[in-house]
Amino acid sequence: MTKVTFYPSKKTVKARSGQTILQLSRVARVAIPTRCDGNAACMLCKITIEQGNVTPLSASEKRKLSERDQVRGIRLACQTRVTEEDVCIRVPESKWKSVVEKALERQRLEEEEW
Ligand code: FES
Repeated sequence: MTKVTFYPSKKTVKARSGQTILQLSRVARVAIPTRCDGNAACMLCKITIEQGNVTPLSASEKRKLSERDQVRGIRLACQTRVTEEDVCIRVPESKWKSVVEKALERQRLEEEEW
C-alpha cells in the first residue's frame, strides 16, 4: 500500500496504485475544490506534488496546465494517479480563507485602536 500525505493539514491516507489524488482527498477529508467532478474542465483542483512520483501528465493536463505550472510540479488532482510510491501533496489554501483571515485581522486592529 502507498501512503499519501496532504499538506498543510498533514492528513495521511493509504492508497492503492491507480487511485486519483481527488479520490484520496475525499477519503482524507481534505477539501479540494471541483466543479467538473473530475473531468479536467474546471481547473480548480490544482495541487502540487512535493515528494514522490505519480503518473505522468495526462493529455488533458498537458493541454490545460501552463508550462510554468508543469515545471513547478502543479497537477490536476482529478487526473493524477498514485503509483507504488509514497507521495506528499500540497493543497493550496482557499482564496476565501485568506480573504476571511484578512478581514478578521483588520477588524482586530480596528478594535485595538479604540
Ligand atoms: S476537478 Fe475539475 S479540473 Fe479537476
